Amino acid sequence: MHSLARNFFRAQKFINHWLHVVDEHSIHSPFYFDFYNQVLKPTASGKISEIEVVRNRLLQSTEQITLDDLGAPSPHFASTTRPLSKIAATSASTPKMCAFYYRLATYLQARTIVELGTSVGLTTLYLAHTPNSKVITFEGNAPLVQVANTHFEYFNLKNIELVPGNIDQTLPRLVQHPVKIDLALMDANHRYAPTLRYFNLLARRMQEQGVIIVDDIYYSPEMATAWNELKNHPLIYGSVDLYRFGILFFNPALNRQHYVWSI
Ligand SMILES: C[S@@+](CC[C@H](N)C(=O)[O-])C[C@H]1O[C@@H](n2cnc3c(N)ncnc32)[C@H](O)[C@@H]1O
Repeated sequence: MHSLARNFFRAQKFINHWLHVVDEHSIHSPFYFDFYNQVLKPTASGKISEIEVVRNRLLQSTEQITLDDLGAPSPHFASTTRPLSKIAATSASTPKMCAFYYRLATYLQARTIVELGTSVGLTTLYLAHTPNSKVITFEGNAPLVQVANTHFEYFNLKNIELVPGNIDQTLPRLVQHPVKIDLALMDANHRYAPTLRYFNLLARRMQEQGVIIVDDIYYSPEMATAWNELKNHPLIYGSVDLYRFGILFFNPALNRQHYVWSI
């Protein structure tokens, strides 16, 4: 899709999102009210300063690395050789999003967390700081695997397993094991068919109270279609649309409410 057409599409979706946003005064469900106050809107920033030091170092890096576009092509880069600083600035989740994922994993008391798309590993570090968690993170670009592993070693975190290789091959292998996933973050291949395929694989292994985050739900028309289908999937009992990403709840005790909130 041409970048002008994509920007127009995203702007339209952004306006539409804001027209539908509600706040806590419109939430009647006790579950969502609690979720909104505990996970979405706590007053403290929730940033982990040691991880933000690593981010700042990356943002000032002069290193260049060569990557393949394994997912949807990135609009931020014209060449496969890219500055690490720009990858940290454009591909990694922002500090605010990382803090949100940390609160979400803590709230869910998530023990098994899956992240599709490690990039430089900043979100992984946040997730791995939650108590009693194990994070299984997937990355297909070898130079990023190396950068992320350096960070994991620096923090001496033993609860991260980085699975290298294309998720098309590595994720089916994971779900052959009797793993039960509490939280999954789908942030790799932002296209329709892989999004549906990865969701269906993960769904086989989700805990009853499990949650899947789908990143970049309005990245393109095909991602918007995928999001719309997923939130109406028979295994999904509720959702929250935060524009940048969406949250899918597997808990059958919820009664299929779909909220639009701002983060
Ligand atoms: C948006 S970045 C992930 C950001 C990271 N989750 C964070 O929050 O900072 C997406 C990553 O997914 C990886 N990726 C995309 N498609 C993939 C595939 N099919 N297999 C493995 N990795 C893939 C890319 O190399 C890229 O590093």
